[in-house]
Amino acid sequence: MSTPHQDKVVAVTGATGGIGRAVCERLRRDGATVWAMDLRLPDGPTGLAVDVTNADSVEQAFRFVRQQEGRVDAVVAGAGIVEDDVAAEEMSSEQFSSILSVNLVGVFHTLTSAGRIMLDQGSGSCVAISSMSGTHTVNTPQRQCAYNASKAGVSALVRSLAAEWAERGVRVNAVAPGYIGTELLARKTHQFDQWFAHTPQRRMGSPEDVAATVAFLLSDEAGYFCGSELLMDGGYTLV
Ligand SMILES: NC(=O)c1ccc[n+]([C@@H]2O[C@H](COP(=O)([O-])OP(=O)(O)OC[C@H]3O[C@@H](n4cnc5c(N)ncnc54)[C@H](O)[C@@H]3O)[C@@H](O)[C@H]2O)c1
Repeated sequence: MSTPHQDKVVAVTGATGGIGRAVCERLRRDGATVWAMDLRLPDGPTGLAVDVTNADSVEQAFRFVRQQEGRVDAVVAGAGIVEDDVAAEEMSSEQFSSILSVNLVGVFHTLTSAGRIMLDQGSGSCVAISSMSGTHTVNTPQRQCAYNASKAGVSALVRSLAAEWAERGVRVNAVAPGYIGTELLARKTHQFDQWFAHTPQRRMGSPEDVAATVAFLLSDEAGYFCGSELLMDGGYTLV
């Protein structure tokens, strides 16, 4: 019996991180050949050291995957960072830009490098990991204006690319998670109780929860999703 991503060639950025690793595992289980990309070299023969802030680094990685595999069927733009609690009026321009350069410019580099190959093939599916913090809420109590702005940018970028590329066979969508238990939140454990009190499900999501949603959006079953953002937050933004 064939699996949902049988024989597909997929690239994942942020692949050494919590969500990225779960996405790679899920897609491999679903039958894909997965190229794992991260600043911290992912394990295995299909792991590539890539800095998403550097357009050449990303372009070279995708060119290499195409040389090896002949095509790229799907991409997941998952690399991301978050600032510690910083008041907006005290944040430096450099601090703000450094978050934007990974979370927004990095997604631009990733989706457009993959997109050039996909448009040439006439097919492909892209998913970016945005966040509930983009267009759905402003997190409390921590102040993280750069992260929130970067993720709102990702949502707009996804809609824009989806509209530009739809007629040429390439779909672009986003998953917007709420709090997910990964290293990204390692310095914020003292805030967990406050977050849970505000989350109807009273828990965090797991990286596997996100991976399942990514796998769905990438698949042909999600063929009519175009520029959509699937919010999955345990109800955080309901209350
Ligand atoms: N954990 C959450 O609660 C949560 C919620 C919403 C959205 N997200 C998003 O999900 C994505 C994955 O986050 P995570 O929770 O797995 O965090 P994580 O810290 O475990 O993983 C992030 C990965 O991105 C990589 N990375 C950072 N800068 C990079 C760069 N310049 N080039 C290449 N790779 C780089 C890191 O090395 C790391 O492996 C991020 O975009 C994050 O914003 C996470």
